[in-house]
Amino acid sequence: MAPVSSDPSSRGPRRSTRLAIATQRRAWTRRVDTWDRHNDAGMAKVAAAAIDAVDLRPGLTCVDLGCGGGRLALELARRGATVVGVDVSAAMVDRMLSLAREEGLTTVTGVVSPIEELRLDPGSVDVVVSNYALHHLLDPDKARVVRAAYGWLRPGGQFVNADMMLGRGTTAQDRQVIAGKVRAMAQKGIPGLWRIAKNAGRYLLRLRERPITPEAWSRLLREAGFTQVTARNVVAEANVVSGVKPLAS
Ligand SMILES: C[S@@+](CC[C@H](N)C(=O)[O-])C[C@H]1O[C@@H](n2cnc3c(N)ncnc32)[C@H](O)[C@@H]1O
Repeated sequence: MAPVSSDPSSRGPRRSTRLAIATQRRAWTRRVDTWDRHNDAGMAKVAAAAIDAVDLRPGLTCVDLGCGGGRLALELARRGATVVGVDVSAAMVDRMLSLAREEGLTTVTGVVSPIEELRLDPGSVDVVVSNYALHHLLDPDKARVVRAAYGWLRPGGQFVNADMMLGRGTTAQDRQVIAGKVRAMAQKGIPGLWRIAKNAGRYLLRLRERPITPEAWSRLLREAGFTQVTARNVVAEANVVSGVKPLAS
């Protein structure tokens, strides 16, 4: 599988997408030294659920979208996969590659690219995974990326997205998740209250956090052509949605 860096037929991303990409790049490059420490039990469970959802066999070619420091990419490599980690932040990709080197994992490579602009050869990938990254994308870009992933996958290939998935507070389920998060953060005192204010702003204005429900993700997968689409709640707002590209498509 070779990343194709430019697509001559593409007119490039829209202004809103370019803006969203620049914001994410800035924000996540600043967090490169702290994000991996955000390794709480919940996040470990979500990552484990994403890995569990992959029908993993040694030698598979996987792409990790928004790989960060390589939480999924490195684990997939430990289990014998060849992995390309993709991230908008060069600092994150560097971190993943240096951790891979430390562990002697030789099947991990990195691509610095916005997910929205990633071009891969059609039918060149067995598994596309992502953990807590795709909710950062604008809604039209989420749909485009799911369609693009369908194209990159070989027939029988899998798309697995573990992510923050919730709606905009209109359902009882959303309200329950939001109330639980607020309670947990409030227990942390002033820093928790500050996080509530920051996250509420981002979530309500959809500035950097743009989650959609597991049902909406499942619909996007089905519309792109994926079959065997399943959604599993892991903890609070974290869900894993996966689908398979049919063998005959
Ligand atoms: C919450 S972190 C998750 C990192 C990693 N997947 C993990 O499980 O630890 C989100 C990651 O997505 C990356 N990201 C956000 N928006 C992106 C985009 N549009 N294209 C590529 N990467 C993006 C960030 O740079 C960051 O590394």
